[in-house]
Amino acid sequence: MADDFDLKWEAFEAKCRACHNCGLRDGCTNVVIYRGSRKAPLMIIGEAPGENEDIQGLPFVGRSGQLLQNLLGSYGFTNNDYHICNIAKCRPPQNRRPVPEEIHACKPLLAEQFMLVRPKVILLCGSTAYEGFFGTKPVMHDVRGRFIEKNGYFIMTTYHPAYALRNPANKMPIYEDMGKVRRKLTEIGAMPPLEPVDGN
Ligand code: URA
Repeated sequence: MADDFDLKWEAFEAKCRACHNCGLRDGCTNVVIYRGSRKAPLMIIGEAPGENEDIQGLPFVGRSGQLLQNLLGSYGFTNNDYHICNIAKCRPPQNRRPVPEEIHACKPLLAEQFMLVRPKVILLCGSTAYEGFFGTKPVMHDVRGRFIEKNGYFIMTTYHPAYALRNPANKMPIYEDMGKVRRKLTEIGAMPPLEPVDGN
């Protein structure tokens, strides 16, 4: 039988699918809500669905998603540990960034999602995620890799995985930031320590 949380989650998904708060819904196939776990200590927020995400109805399933998944795997994250979503739930045409009005229109749904998932750590991937979350444009070089503590949870900003796809050298800072996130989750008791990889 569905419990209270399941019912709330189903109502939330129905609200997302029925949303026409901006024009993006008319041009997309699926409303992309999340992948991973509905309750998770880590919430990862990207920009907006691309073509693959729109077709499959899941976030980060294209090339950026593959990179993100490899990073998560290298730090021992499993499906239960993360909730992956985006600042905008509908695909913008031609993969452009969502504009501020679209981000603003989607924000109440993200806030509701946040209250249901109740993460301890949030990883913002890229400047659009940062801007959507904090409401100001970041200088990525300055904000990335540092935790901000707010209302008892920890927010880290890193580069978007697409940035590493453009230049593999950019993978290192994202890898380092994911390591900080992993260690923070252990430090606050939300995940066990990462087992060292046995080289023998
Ligand atoms: N890029 C994003 O920011 N989100 C996705 O879901 C896919 C690619």
